[in-house]
Formats: sequence, structure tokens, C-alpha cells
Amino acid sequence: MAGLSLKNTPVEIRFLSARDASAYSNLRLEALETEPEAFGSSPAEHRMLSIDDIATRISDDPENKFVVGAFAHGRLLGTAGFLRDKGLKERHKGQIWGVYITRDARGKGISREMLCLLLDRAIKIDGMEQIKLAVSNTQLSAGRLYRSLGFESFGLERKALKIGDKYVDEEHMVLYIKGPPIKDLRLTHPPPTP
Ligand SMILES: CC(C)(COP(=O)(O)OP(=O)(O)OC[C@H]1O[C@@H](n2cnc3c(N)ncnc32)[C@H](O)[C@@H]1OP(=O)(O)O)[C@@H](O)C(=O)NCCC(=O)NCCS
Repeated sequence: MAGLSLKNTPVEIRFLSARDASAYSNLRLEALETEPEAFGSSPAEHRMLSIDDIATRISDDPENKFVVGAFAHGRLLGTAGFLRDKGLKERHKGQIWGVYITRDARGKGISREMLCLLLDRAIKIDGMEQIKLAVSNTQLSAGRLYRSLGFESFGLERKALKIGDKYVDEEHMVLYIKGPPIKDLRLTHPPPTP
């Protein structure tokens, strides 16, 4: 998306539908090619998907899965995805995935707006209590953005991604929305008495 100018251009933020599959596929490929350390998937894996696979992946199912997109001049610039966990014992959790915006559109608050729309819907899902994500420790802007939205770190996965000979650590973050208060692990697991 070279040469993109957003000056005085209104940016539309909306939920994607299956009709956006082709635009989404192109932007996702750009994301995987230009930011390999930010995502677990590879361009080669993405190219194996059919347009129907992609349409299914992004189709809007408000209680379980959806993707927010940002558009300018009708072009898809950025995305942020949400997926509710499936198991009966895990349906109180959801994951954010696929957060990306094309380089020329960064630093203007557009991703923050995409995530606000995503979270606004996600936190209203009946039974939703916590939203998680994983962010590579190379993606400093993403980490700052998530922290500014209230996400907190709960773990570091060392060597989470292996790209050729290079390893990337991932920080796991969570936003607790509701549910019983989190117990202090230091109190529930006291050290054994000598
Ligand atoms: C992470 C990413 C999605 C952030 O997108 P963005 O649209 O630039 O994000 P925002 O503009 O909402 O906020 C990020 C930055 O802009 C700044 N910003 C926010 N609103 C702003 C505004 N109105 N005007 C100017 N700057 C603003 C923020 O302070 C922040 O600055 P920082 O980069 O120094 O921390 C983008 O950098 C990206 O696609 N990175 C590569 C992929 C990636 O890392 N994805 C995350 C995978 S977990």
C-alpha cells in the first residue's frame, strides 16, 4: 500500500464480512511478509488457504468470532480479530489475533480505534470474562498499545516463535472484564513450611 495519504481522509472502522475476503487476504499476506516476527503464521501457510477458507475465517458471528477492519478510500488498511474459546470450560475466555495496520497508516490511533470497537462488542458477549493475546517482544508499539487499553502481562513464553535460526519471545497478556476476583497465587500456594 505504498503512497497512501490519509490526510483529511475519513477512516471507516467496521466489522468485516465474508465479502471482504479478498481484501483481507491481500492485507494478511502483506502483514505476514512484512512483519514475520509479529505473527505465528507464515506467508506460505497463508497462500495455502482458499478464498472460501478466508471468508469462513472472517465471517461475522457476534457471539463467537469477528474481525474489525479500517478502511480509507474503500481500501482495507488494518485489521484486528477476536475468537471466543470453544470448550464448555473455556467459553469465558476469548483471544485477540491478527492485529495489523499497513505501515503508512500507523501512529494515528487507528488500531486503538479498531481494538476499542472489538472490545466494545467482546465485553458484551454473555459469559465473557477475560480476553487474552500474545505479543512478540519485538513489537514494542503493539505492547504499548495493549497496555494502554488495560491489558496486563501474565507470562513470558521464551522462544515462542522460531524463524530460521532466530527465536522470538512472546508476552502473554490478559484483560479481565468481569467474574470473581482473581486470587493471589502467593496466598493460595504458600511455600511449604520447613
Ligand atoms: C501495533 C500496530 C498494530 C499499532 O498500530 P497503530 O495504528 O500505529 O496504533 P495506534 O496509532 O492506535 O497507537 C500506536 C501508536 O500511535 C500513538 N498514537 C495513538 N493515537 C495517536 C494519535 N491520535 N495521534 C498520534 N499518535 C497516536 C500511540 O501513542 C502509539 O505510539 P507508539 O507506537 O510510540 O507506542 C502497528 O504498529 C502494526 O501493525 N505493527 C506490526 C504488526 C504488529 O506488531 N501487530 C501486533 C501483533 S500482536
